[in-house]
Amino acid sequence: MINDLWYKNAIVYCLSVETFMDANGDGIGDFQGLQRRLDYLAGLGVNAIWLMPFQTSPGRDDGYDVSDYYNVDPRYGTLGDFVEFTHGAKQRGIRVLIDLVVNHTSNEHPWFQDARSDPNSRYRDWYVWSDKKPANADEGMVFPGVQKTTWTRDEKAKQYYFHRFYDFQPDLNTANPHVQAEILKIMGFWLQLGVSGFRMDAVPFVIAEKGPEVTKPKEQFDMLRTFREFLQWRLGDSIILAEANVVPKDNVKYFGADGDRMQMMFNFHVNQALFYALASSDARPLAKAVEETLEHPQTAQWGLFLRNHDELDLGRLSEKQRQKVFQEFGPDKSMQLYDRGIRRRLAPMLQGDRRRLELAYSLMFSLPGTPVLRYGDEIAMGDDLSLPERNCARTPMQWSTEPHGGFTKNDKPVLPVISGGAFGFQHTNVADQRRDPNSMLNWMERLIRMRKEAPEIGWGDCKILNPGNNGVLALRYDWRDNSVLVVHNLNATPVEFDLSVGLGDKGETLIDLADGGNSEADETGKHRLLFEAYAYRWYRVGGLDYLLKRKEV
Ligand code: GLC
Ligand code: CA
Repeated sequence: MINDLWYKNAIVYCLSVETFMDANGDGIGDFQGLQRRLDYLAGLGVNAIWLMPFQTSPGRDDGYDVSDYYNVDPRYGTLGDFVEFTHGAKQRGIRVLIDLVVNHTSNEHPWFQDARSDPNSRYRDWYVWSDKKPANADEGMVFPGVQKTTWTRDEKAKQYYFHRFYDFQPDLNTANPHVQAEILKIMGFWLQLGVSGFRMDAVPFVIAEKGPEVTKPKEQFDMLRTFREFLQWRLGDSIILAEANVVPKDNVKYFGADGDRMQMMFNFHVNQALFYALASSDARPLAKAVEETLEHPQTAQWGLFLRNHDELDLGRLSEKQRQKVFQEFGPDKSMQLYDRGIRRRLAPMLQGDRRRLELAYSLMFSLPGTPVLRYGDEIAMGDDLSLPERNCARTPMQWSTEPHGGFTKNDKPVLPVISGGAFGFQHTNVADQRRDPNSMLNWMERLIRMRKEAPEIGWGDCKILNPGNNGVLALRYDWRDNSVLVVHNLNATPVEFDLSVGLGDKGETLIDLADGGNSEADETGKHRLLFEAYAYRWYRVGGLDYLLKRKEV
């Protein structure tokens, strides 16, 4: 049954073990700490956790530089702790996805160490080498401004090696069948330990041709099918959620025309348009981006997000649009990064304005796809711009008003906990928000419940309606005789509009999913609605009792 595809309607929560909860008091988050917080996550209503890298690593790129794929970094615990965690998650109906970082290894990985020491090493061809510095070595850096080149000379190897990212992250030669076999082995290993799949890092680079002669790297899409088949043979309901910031015309190549490649991809296209819409109060480019990404195989799904652990990448907006987003959300140079993005968290970008925060999350939860929430977003955590690069948005979770926000009993947390001011742990923390029915945390819990009660969003056909105001985005989802309408006013002013465009000929009753109120068309057939500034509403179309109306199938 197609309804069995759990990821079509999941609520994903992304977290880093290192900064979530420290149980043993050494200042570093760990699996035992995370284990103790599983009931918190279950209470929030999330049903999948995406763990950022936790494997053994020198930690120069927050774990995205792995030196042992088959272990837990000892700072976070042991493999035993990991299995306790996946078991605990499973008991609570929560699935676990983990980061799979196989475009490159750490330069401290034994494979690279062996490869560089001896031209005849069996690992030499696991990496990408060149005798001379290739002509395009100063092109295609992922971290411009910080990263100077993509080819660096290794004195021991007496050759240059290729690195799409930092120089301590040598690229794996993914075209080598031995490397491909190893990638499958890594996936198989973690599947046995209880995960339901992988957030695959940097997918377009993993499958790109690599080498000194390559000027326009072609993607080897077959590789995606190999990964997919392996996963499904080993564990039928496991998935890959691909990090692939690609243009809409390439989407189908990643999903596979027959849905035989990646099950999920992050929707970077919609993400950027969404921030532009929030910055400009113009919903039209967002509507267009949604439209452009609607088409995909039925079994595929988008991952929708607002902010993640990286910078908000605005690289695909027009120059004018990008400047608008910078101006509204990151005017200071210190808030910007890599010439293309903003490194702040969402809450400070929106100046903590609850109306706009709710609007933004309501959008993320109701656009076509599966929402991916970042830890701390549920309490509107802030950032610390004094930390370098992307670390500003990776500070420890704020649990309480205890020292260091209750994250650790140690005086030296791995990253400083945000302290003082509106976003400091003294004001922004889980403990206080739990007790306050109007808090962001309790609002988020209600939003998650509402999303679960509207499976049409994950499954249904989405239609973009045009209620005649450029700042209003209205979507209708139809699925098996059930319909949901979600309407967002991006304007800073109240608006009145006619929603009869989204309703059937006879006019249908709209039941507000949040407050149960209902509205109908007037005698002339118009369905007038008045929305306050930044208001959002989710409606079920038809019958008096929406739970009754929702037919179980
Ligand atoms: C991805 C990750 C990023 C990391 C990079 C290199 O883009 O999201 O955090 O630095 O890959 O692995
Ligand atoms: Ca610890």
